[in-house]
Amino acid sequence: DQIVELIRHKTPLAEWPAEFFKVEDNIRRKDALLGADFAPGDALKALKSPQEVLDSVKESGLRGRGGAGFSTGQKWDFCRAAVGTGPHAAHYVVCNADEGEPGTFKDRVLLASYAGLVFEGMTVSGYVIGARKGIVYLRGEYRYLLEPLNAVLEKRRAAKLLGKSILGRTGFDFDIEVHLGAGAYVCGEETALLESLEGKRGVPRKRPPFPVTAGYLGQPTAVNNVETLASAALIAAKGAAWYKSIGTPKSAGTKILSISGDCERPGIYEYPYGVKVSQVLADCGARDTQACQIAGASGLCVAPNEFGRRIAFEDIPTGGSFMIFDNTRDMFQVARNFAHFFVHESCGFCTPCRVGTTLLANAMDKIDEGHGGEYDINDIWRVIRTLKTASHCGLGQTAGNAVADTLQKFRPSYELRLNVRDFEPAFDLDKALS
Ligand code: NAI
Repeated sequence: DQIVELIRHKTPLAEWPAEFFKVEDNIRRKDALLGADFAPGDALKALKSPQEVLDSVKESGLRGRGGAGFSTGQKWDFCRAAVGTGPHAAHYVVCNADEGEPGTFKDRVLLASYAGLVFEGMTVSGYVIGARKGIVYLRGEYRYLLEPLNAVLEKRRAAKLLGKSILGRTGFDFDIEVHLGAGAYVCGEETALLESLEGKRGVPRKRPPFPVTAGYLGQPTAVNNVETLASAALIAAKGAAWYKSIGTPKSAGTKILSISGDCERPGIYEYPYGVKVSQVLADCGARDTQACQIAGASGLCVAPNEFGRRIAFEDIPTGGSFMIFDNTRDMFQVARNFAHFFVHESCGFCTPCRVGTTLLANAMDKIDEGHGGEYDINDIWRVIRTLKTASHCGLGQTAGNAVADTLQKFRPSYELRLNVRDFEPAFDLDKALS
């Protein structure tokens, strides 16, 4: 309630009570895995040759934790093999800490409580790909983490874990700086992030070329999520076999979930991959759950008949967002809210996304006001299809997901607002797209 009042009165952040910014180690663990017994330097002291470390990361099965699940070993391998260009040829490590997905806040906690682990993962990455510089792209809204992060960096420099000749190894030079974003969701897309890092407007680039060959300043760059880098540090310290022994055969290790919404114990939870949605709901004290929005506004809306599904790349992949809605919630309004979110966050570069997100939100508003009918439902499907197939980047391609999911799984919440009730119910989006 206090926070609502502060926001209502537009109180500047600097005047908010300090306790609102206190972030503790509040990761709830099933098996105390990530970083529980990690001391600064553990990974760096264990480093063998870059090739051996790379082999170990590949062998571990580590996949990107931002959501897409690309093999980290493969990414580092591509980057290591790529050749820099021009007189300033270099390789770079970039930590994507532009955590903007609604309902995702696990990277914030990792950076607040385990920054050393993340920085160590970046240093390991630099060692493997041959980079001397790492950059953390920190979400603008996480400005308050800047000083604590810089303090950790200073400590690591003093302990010879960063800087020249790390741990006395000649030629092993690596340092890290933190760069602040300015609050644009699209800058979490890696190439928009790189544009922003270069001082330009955050518009996604065409891929390929991928950042591994042409990234920051056109040089080979490994862009990884905060959690991926923390996991990489642990793999370097404890080995691939340890890591692979956790999770499922296709999804090794653990996943940190940001759990919010209608439950008794929201917060950050770490699970081995393969955990069932129903287990997560039980652990956080969720009752009468109507739906879970997993992987954020662009993710999957999971209905009760799917609560037996698992959090894993082979079933439900997620960057970490897990929003719970009990049966007092109106799923139509949830989807309408997401539709407006995407209007606000579209970068406006490509027409399908700039116009499509607005058309979608307008159609949802029209239905909300009771003026919607069959035409509008069909129009919504048309717009979602255009967004998915013609948008320039992932933001537009996934902007219709929440509406599509709720329209299929929570049809009554739409029906009760329609002045015509005979719209086509069983629309198969995949079939329509194929
Ligand atoms: P993507 O699958 O296109 O790429 C994933 C990563 O693999 C990128 O780093 C890309 O450079 C690399 N990659 C893919 N193919 C490659 C190739 N052939 N050679 C070299 N590298 C290659 O996914 P994208 O568009 O980067 O990210 C989409 C994901 O982001 C979704 O899963 C979405 O849920 C998630 N997301 C996460 C948010 C968050 O706050 N964590 C916010 C919004 C979306």
